[in-house]
Amino acid sequence: TDESRDAKNRQLDGFRAHPEHSALTTDQGVRIDDTDNALRAGTRGPTLLEDFHNREKITHFDHERIPERVVHARGAGAYGYFEAYESLAEYTCADFLGEAGRRTPVFVRFSTVQGPRGSADTVRDVRGFATKFYTREGNYDLVGNNFPVFFVQDAVKFPDFVHAVKMEPDSEMPTGASAHDTFWDFCSLQPESTHMLMWLMSDRAIPRSYRMMQGFGVHTFRFVTDDGRGTLVKFHWRPKLGVHSLVWDEAQIAAGRDPDFNRRDLWEAIESGDHPEWELGVQLVPEGDEHAFGFDLLDATKIIPEEQVPVRPIGRMVLDRNPQNFFAETEQVAFHTANVVPGIDFTNDPLLQGRNFSYLDTQLIRLGGPNFSQIPINRPLAEVHHNHRDGYGQQVIHPGTNYFPNSLGGGCPAHAGAGGGAGVFRHYQERIDGEKIRVRSASFDDHYSQAALFWNSMADWERRHIVEAFRFELGKVESAAVQQRMVDNLGNVDPELAAQVADGLGMTAPTQSRRGSEEVSPALSQENLRAPGIC
Ligand code: HEM
Repeated sequence: TDESRDAKNRQLDGFRAHPEHSALTTDQGVRIDDTDNALRAGTRGPTLLEDFHNREKITHFDHERIPERVVHARGAGAYGYFEAYESLAEYTCADFLGEAGRRTPVFVRFSTVQGPRGSADTVRDVRGFATKFYTREGNYDLVGNNFPVFFVQDAVKFPDFVHAVKMEPDSEMPTGASAHDTFWDFCSLQPESTHMLMWLMSDRAIPRSYRMMQGFGVHTFRFVTDDGRGTLVKFHWRPKLGVHSLVWDEAQIAAGRDPDFNRRDLWEAIESGDHPEWELGVQLVPEGDEHAFGFDLLDATKIIPEEQVPVRPIGRMVLDRNPQNFFAETEQVAFHTANVVPGIDFTNDPLLQGRNFSYLDTQLIRLGGPNFSQIPINRPLAEVHHNHRDGYGQQVIHPGTNYFPNSLGGGCPAHAGAGGGAGVFRHYQERIDGEKIRVRSASFDDHYSQAALFWNSMADWERRHIVEAFRFELGKVESAAVQQRMVDNLGNVDPELAAQVADGLGMTAPTQSRRGSEEVSPALSQENLRAPGIC
């Protein structure tokens, strides 16, 4: 078992530089006499172009930077392993979930979403929680966040959302003192963001430690068995240390005193042998129950309340090793929602469908062309055979021909074909019958029921923090119209919440809720339902 767990580490060994060989050479392996003084014509003369070492050294330095991620630019990563509790063969043929005790190496990257690479850790933001499982059947990426819902329901809105949340295009500063008019403008005009905003204004948005954060796959995915049966699934990570947050004053002080607060905490815990652990849980929904919830499981602004579908623990993950080189490992790692393995498939969640396009597309530019899966951190442990050829950064010498079908040989890999046996990815055969339209199902328009569910599940002090966060953030917004629109939206969540926020802003509270009762899904109108993991 430890064998398989350490397999990624052993693979990386072959790529590690060996600093014990201390003789300085050029890229070509030629030993160098002097790296402190460039070659020049006389003691006071010009530097000579023929000093290839000087040119090579400076040129390489000039090209050290690559584009940061367009979102989630700041992050921290660590290696570890995932261990399955039991066989899930009844639901999925995924090999890494196929046997109790099976261990699979992982690399995890935690991140903030909005800030650039050099921003502070403890800002109010969503946190990314991305896991790469190096399974025997290929890499599986679970690219989640620490909130179970998202700002928008359709990926086509993501560029607008990100433009609104990032800095102003002219000054690269927010318009207000520390919050953005643009962000609040977008959200106030896009009420589907309301549920997410409740999480964002809660203490969940200022985690004390990455080790004390939940993670969520957010979308509904699909488990698929060997014989093609599907089960809808939501993924949950639960930290063994429990969920803990900073309070706002602490977060601000930490941002000033130690902008690396969260990444330092993760690094030091792992270095000192205090290895953080999470439990992976699933909510399983039989295909036949897809429409049993009063809301659409394809809507990423909705959770499945745990009272309706309990979370079943299926394994644990331990992070026990820090990277050796931030750039090579944490910066170059490329997660992608479409990196799935046999037994795990997508649903038609319009947010997920867009993500399945976006990640590969962005990585083609961020990591310099089509061969970034050959970068050590991204290499699968499973064998790779294909007819892809050439391109920038190609590391592999492919002998022979490179097409299929092929009667001339040359070692060209062939597809498994229909009924190709275990370990072959087959898309779930979902029946689709519809018109080409730009319309989502009606329940996508219920933007407030689950935001209210979240608010109703909060303790008094948690509510106070949420109100204070709205007051603080909206208090920095310069546009009174934007502030009023937000307060009006909050009136649809809870009149008392809206009144308290309005009071703090010196504004008028909405006189009546604009939410018609018909918009509230019956399944969600029960006030006693709790949001996931909230006790
Ligand atoms: C990066 C999560 C929605 C595009 C990331 C990362 C995470 C994440 C965790 C950082 C990965 C890393 O550590 O390298 C999520 C979640 C979403 C969501 C949970 C909603 C449920 C979207 C959407 C799009 C998108 C809708 C585009 C349409 C991107 C891009 C990156 C990114 C372009 C940068 C990837 C890279 O440069 O490697 N996302 N995201 N995300 N996300 Fe998302």
